[in-house]
Amino acid sequence: MKYRTFPKTGEKISLLGFGTMRLPVEKKGQSARINETEAIRMIRTAIDRGVNYVDTAYTYHDGFSEVVLGKALKDGYREKVFIADKMPVWILKEDGDPEKIFDEQLKRLDVDCIDMYLVHNVTAPLWKRALKYNILELLEKKKAEGKVKHIGFSFHDNFEFFKEVIEAYPWDFCQIQLNYMDADFQAGVKGLKFAGSKGIPVIIMEPLKGGKLTDILPPSIEDFWAQAPIKRTPAEWALRWIANFPEVLVILSGMTSIEQVDENIRVLSKADPNSLTEAELEIINNVAAEYNKLIKYSCTGCEYCIPCPEKISIPAIIGFYNDWHLYHESPKVKVDFKTWISPKALPSVCKSCKICEGRCPQQLPISDIMKKSQSIFE
Ligand SMILES: NC(=O)c1ccc[n+]([C@@H]2O[C@H](COP(=O)([O-])OP(=O)(O)OC[C@H]3O[C@@H](n4cnc5c(N)ncnc54)[C@H](OP(=O)(O)O)[C@@H]3O)[C@@H](O)[C@H]2O)c1
Repeated sequence: MKYRTFPKTGEKISLLGFGTMRLPVEKKGQSARINETEAIRMIRTAIDRGVNYVDTAYTYHDGFSEVVLGKALKDGYREKVFIADKMPVWILKEDGDPEKIFDEQLKRLDVDCIDMYLVHNVTAPLWKRALKYNILELLEKKKAEGKVKHIGFSFHDNFEFFKEVIEAYPWDFCQIQLNYMDADFQAGVKGLKFAGSKGIPVIIMEPLKGGKLTDILPPSIEDFWAQAPIKRTPAEWALRWIANFPEVLVILSGMTSIEQVDENIRVLSKADPNSLTEAELEIINNVAAEYNKLIKYSCTGCEYCIPCPEKISIPAIIGFYNDWHLYHESPKVKVDFKTWISPKALPSVCKSCKICEGRCPQQLPISDIMKKSQSIFE
């Protein structure tokens, strides 16, 4: 495993971090039912092979991500890792909520201290809420009590606002979404470089766009990779593209199988900064341009939009809508839609309340997408 240096303390952190938002589940679509045995085996295997950064959040897997991570870190594993956890600003209702949630997180994880604590999903409206609920003051108190070591934020808004947030507080680190498709989206590469110029290390989330860059590939994308003179998997190309930036401290991947753990460890055990050639970067740029022609809406399947009051599986429906366009209106996509989407939760059930749109880190026009999906699939 490659390691990079956390500037504040000089500690070495593994380039691959284990994101626990997409752990294997017992039943597809039921994110609270984590396959615990397999998830624990995957997390421990990663740690045994040099991963020392694990990322969770209060809301992942309906709260069970923290619980299962806590179990995985028993038997001496806790001492081997930096734990990252986050304050879900959007669910706060009363002044006492942040501290209650923080205490619950320590209990769920069964630890005394969270190494890296983030204000979760910072966008302009959620930043206002974070200030209203005095989250930074609470985190400083927790730091003084020895319950938090480093304070950061995870970000999902535009570059201009990213600069504002970076300047607003002496952050120890920050976390942004980045992959070769999102180089100019949200904070993007400009944000990465800006944070780097301020000496703030950057953790990367969604490096494979939630699996969209590695799941079944459209034929034209397969052709691009097949024609590349160097043979690499799509995951390897995507991870190497990020590892190429020296400003990156950790690349979080939400691995769902032991094979993915194996591969991502293999790739990030040999990826150095500034190691890709101009020709390699051009291949990746060409693939990104082709995807941009094909993809309609850049949903990453993060599930922040759910639960929907009408119980619509929003990410799944957006996925089918995108697939319809990616795979040239293949009838197979309609068959899959019928298999997976319950007749009680079709896009036409959407009442356009737009609660989901306020939560979506990608700011997608979800109610419009439901209308468009209805006209294709119903
Ligand atoms: N703070 C925030 O606002 C925020 C938001 C999003 C994420 N996060 C954190 O960042 C972490 C990383 O983001 P992410 O989960 O979206 O990461 P990601 O690496 O972009 O996506 C993970 C998905 O990619 C696929 N994958 C992973 N490794 C692969 C490989 N070697 N080959 C083929 N497919 C592979 C899997 O999808 P399939 O199994 O479907 O193939 C997996 O579920 C999250 O787990 C979470 O901890 C934080």
